[in-house]
Amino acid sequence: MSNAFVIASDGVDPKLVPHRPLYTGAKIPGIGLGTFGSDRFSAEEIAQAVQDAIAVGYRQIDCASVYGNEHLIGLALRDVMAGGVPREELWITSKLWNDKHGEYDVIPSCEKSLKDLQLDYLDLYLVHWPFPNHHAPGVSADSRDPCAQPYIHEHFMKTWRQMEKLVERGLVRHIGTSNVTIPKLKLILRDAEIKPACNEMELHPHFQQPDLFRFVVNNGIVPIGYSPIGSPRRPNRDRTDADTVDIEDPVIVTIAQRLNVHPAVVCVKWAAQRGQVPIPFSIRREQYLSNLKCVVSDPLTDEEMQAIAGIDKNCRLIKGQVFLWQGARGWEDLWDVNGEITTR
Ligand SMILES: NC(=O)c1ccc[n+]([C@@H]2O[C@H](COP(=O)([O-])OP(=O)(O)OC[C@H]3O[C@@H](n4cnc5c(N)ncnc54)[C@H](OP(=O)(O)O)[C@@H]3O)[C@@H](O)[C@H]2O)c1
Repeated sequence: MSNAFVIASDGVDPKLVPHRPLYTGAKIPGIGLGTFGSDRFSAEEIAQAVQDAIAVGYRQIDCASVYGNEHLIGLALRDVMAGGVPREELWITSKLWNDKHGEYDVIPSCEKSLKDLQLDYLDLYLVHWPFPNHHAPGVSADSRDPCAQPYIHEHFMKTWRQMEKLVERGLVRHIGTSNVTIPKLKLILRDAEIKPACNEMELHPHFQQPDLFRFVVNNGIVPIGYSPIGSPRRPNRDRTDADTVDIEDPVIVTIAQRLNVHPAVVCVKWAAQRGQVPIPFSIRREQYLSNLKCVVSDPLTDEEMQAIAGIDKNCRLIKGQVFLWQGARGWEDLWDVNGEITTR
């Protein structure tokens, strides 16, 4: 008897979801579910959302060891696969945390994620941040790792060589970067034997990163957009008075009224239509279902796409202050805002 998985009656057929081709010929589903609970949602709630999101048609899940919930997401994945979802239909991403960049730490760290997620391989493994700098969970924005360093390309490439070994050993299908800049990516592309297939970066209407977006696409890398809704529930350490709110922008609100959806849905729809892969987070069924449905419904008009292109405020929300090193001037140093890698 066949064990075919039945999508919820109000769900979306995963075959209808647009997919984006990678340089390997593989295709990544054009939307995924985020799993970072912003210190607000429990691992149990998030794992339950993963299981239910797959039941409504999601096929991509964005995980990371630092989110502290892979062991429970693994139980959810085991259950959906036992229920008939073939492994090859799923796209599971995980990420190497900053304290595991050491040459002998990368492979065991990936193996730990695989064990927790109960998988034989990952579809994508990312270097979460290009710095070996980390912080204890929940610390304030002025907390610093005393051993923190700026980006040192030779060190990063030692980590990357281990990432390449993961592909060679068949533990991961693709490797990629996250939170990098154009100058860093130029060096990585120059020296990598296996090039990044995806780059995960902050992308929402008020932070469109047009230069990095173009650079990534022109180099055959698929952009994955994190915090696509402007992360309205992000931790306090990632908030400043200057931050703007995408879902309150009049352009977004007007389009939401026309479509009779929440402004969050407009952000997700714009992201998928622009060409990045959004990975919105939610544990609420009506939210993650409407985020999925919007990528298979009628597109935004050209005028709406242009209007959203016009509301970019270059407003980075995830500034990464906790990863700064002694002597750094401010969070801008993490992002090479002058077009050169900051090395001090
Ligand atoms: N690579 C990296 O360094 C990095 C960094 C940050 C995030 N990420 C990834 O990106 C994922 C998403 O980013 P994020 O969690 O920061 O923020 P986000 O997806 O921009 O925002 C998530 C919040 O938006 C609200 N929301 C979602 N769908 C909605 C809907 N349809 N209607 C109304 N509200 C809706 C929910 O708020 P309520 O809970 O209030 O309902 C939810 O908590 C993360 O979970 C993580 O997987 C990666």
